[in-house]
Amino acid sequence: MSSNLEVLKLSVFGESHGRAIGFTLEGLPEGKKVSEAAVQAFVDRRKSRGGYATARREADEVEFLSGLKNGYTTGAPVCAVILNSDARSADYNKLKDTPRPSHCDYAAMQKYGEWCDLAGSGHFSGRLTAPLCAAGGVAAEILKDSGIRAAAYIAELGGIPLSSYRNGVPSLTDVVEAHNSELPILCEEKREELIRLLDQARAEGDSLGGVVELVAYHVPVGLGGPLYEGLEGRLASMFFAIPAVKGVEFGDGLHISALKGSEANDAFRYEDGKVVTATNRSGGINGGISNGMEITARIAFRPTPSIAKPQKTVNLTSCTDTEIRIKGRHDSCIVPRAVVCTEAAASLIILDAMMENASRRI
Ligand SMILES: Cc1cc2nc3c(=O)[nH]c(=O)nc-3n(C[C@H](O)[C@H](O)[C@H](O)COP(=O)(O)O)c2cc1C
Repeated sequence: MSSNLEVLKLSVFGESHGRAIGFTLEGLPEGKKVSEAAVQAFVDRRKSRGGYATARREADEVEFLSGLKNGYTTGAPVCAVILNSDARSADYNKLKDTPRPSHCDYAAMQKYGEWCDLAGSGHFSGRLTAPLCAAGGVAAEILKDSGIRAAAYIAELGGIPLSSYRNGVPSLTDVVEAHNSELPILCEEKREELIRLLDQARAEGDSLGGVVELVAYHVPVGLGGPLYEGLEGRLASMFFAIPAVKGVEFGDGLHISALKGSEANDAFRYEDGKVVTATNRSGGINGGISNGMEITARIAFRPTPSIAKPQKTVNLTSCTDTEIRIKGRHDSCIVPRAVVCTEAAASLIILDAMMENASRRI
């Protein structure tokens, strides 16, 4: 599936239970340092860890086929594959008749008919975020040259609000530190309560959703453009490409509508000769263009749709209402694994916008 990038071209391919998944990223500049080990470490952050993550165990080793040589981009398309090694398709045989509520099954079968490969959710699977992370990892490596870093953490889980940029943008050091834990949060005091909540949901055959906050640090002023070129739209479109994302806000987002202009506006001032804003309710973007402050976004993930609890659905063969009990190895909470996916999405969009600016100055 191709993306909406302007200068770069990203294609993510494969199915959850097929031979392999992977990506092709075209249009990268030559001579950019990309450590394959760093990309692998980035992808590894998406691996299932903790009792609430899928029991499917994939090595997720990224094998680069082209576009990198001796640790540098060659200017040719970067292509990489990740082999699928732990698929169990039998778990999905019944879904053709009885679609899982709120998953892709019904809508995908109506669109693609019998041709659709829905084993493990096929091309719709959260597994496709592995190549997204690999491509995003390459982008993140290239952004290092400019000191830009997109970093994310969990800001809400199962309805419990956690530390948020709305109460002050966290330091990059604190966010990176949080990545050492399987539950990347910025308020340690809530950890035990969250683990209890996650354990309870899993024991009840249920699932939990949450909100990931993404902060892009050291983004230069001037990325994006008006109307359809707007950075918010471009970032949102890439965030929505991550399965299970149901809402995206920038800065104060939906809350900003309740404020007065005098409360919502981010006053300008000089700091060490640089124009900054006293607050950052706009999330670092004005008129679709980055204003030099941190870009801040909240990305809402639905609870995993495949739950063990019995649910009402339909039988498409007998045209009757029925009940479904979903088997298979599902994440009872995907939010911890989705954190790095938002970083990948943001890194790709920011790199694309940087390259777009560079191409305007020939
Ligand atoms: C990292 C990751 C892992 C996921 N794992 C599962 C899973 O185990 N079971 C499941 O039902 N959905 C899982 N999902 C979510 C589904 O892929 C997603 O809800 C589904 O494709 C329908 O898309 P929608 O929720 O965007 O409408 C996962 C998503 C991500 C990002």
